[in-house]
Amino acid sequence: MNDIALITGTSSGMGLHAAVELARHGLHVVATMRDTGKAGALREAAAVAGVELDVRALDVVDHEAAARLVAEVEAELGGIRVLVNNAGQGSVATAEQLTMAQIQAQLDVNYLAPVNLAKLVLPGMRERGTGRILTVTSVGGAVGQPFADAYCGAKFAVEGFMQSLAVVAERFGVGVSVIEPAAVASAFVENAVRPEGGGPYGALLDAYIARTAGAFANAQTAESAGSAIAAAALADEYRFRWQSSEGATRFVGVSLADTDGGAVLDFTRPWIAAG
Ligand SMILES: NC(=O)c1ccc[n+]([C@@H]2O[C@H](COP(=O)([O-])OP(=O)(O)OC[C@H]3O[C@@H](n4cnc5c(N)ncnc54)[C@H](OP(=O)(O)O)[C@@H]3O)[C@@H](O)[C@H]2O)c1
Repeated sequence: MNDIALITGTSSGMGLHAAVELARHGLHVVATMRDTGKAGALREAAAVAGVELDVRALDVVDHEAAARLVAEVEAELGGIRVLVNNAGQGSVATAEQLTMAQIQAQLDVNYLAPVNLAKLVLPGMRERGTGRILTVTSVGGAVGQPFADAYCGAKFAVEGFMQSLAVVAERFGVGVSVIEPAAVASAFVENAVRPEGGGPYGALLDAYIARTAGAFANAQTAESAGSAIAAAALADEYRFRWQSSEGATRFVGVSLADTDGGAVLDFTRPWIAAG
């Protein structure tokens, strides 16, 4: 039965809740995390919701492990209907405070991993003429923010890749989308990479951290963001760009006139009209 969802980064936060929500909608959910020893909270939430999850290990930056996992799932269970690229990590530092290795690590998890997984599920989805690839980006995928240089750069990159892929994939029945949360209460802030001390940037960094704390005081819950992710992944209506809350839509509206992504796709679709 072709009703399988594969989701990454489900040990905590919105990925955990999105996995449960997808299962509540009747999908067989392959809920992946890099350390399955951290599956306790997910299993508890699934038990409360009365659903079963198929928990498997995946460190998304290991491209060969991702290839093995997708092949294993397709052989055992059949075609993947929905891929949710949720795993991600933040970085709080301005350019000078970042090493190239830290910038590369942001690209690895926030850009190259979703790209790799999209490439892995596409052949099956294309052959079956159906499928959804949804990547959790961020309002930081549309609005560059101070002390988020590497993170926003990687989220902009993945949005550019997915937006470019979208009109080609849709010709084969595959919907490629992004969902942009604003501040969500999760382990994201504590998991973000931070510089040691601010140096000449100390006062600016302090101001930024104080402003961010204010934004997170009114954060969307991870449950609510997880529901928005599941709803976007399963929506009958296809859109390229979703936000997980009205606040997130207002946020990206600062930078984008095209908050649902329709105008860009209408613009680029005719470019592949022949054939
Ligand atoms: N929270 C926010 O304010 C916010 C706003 C906009 C966008 N986002 C995006 O939302 C997504 C989910 O974040 P969250 O807020 O739910 O934060 P979170 O609670 O920190 O969850 C992030 C998840 O990604 C996983 N992850 C990190 N690196 C991984 C890797 N190499 N392989 C597999 N899994 C990995 C983490 O697993 P471990 O437990 O193993 O670390 C965790 O399960 C991310 O893409 C993030 O960039 C978050």
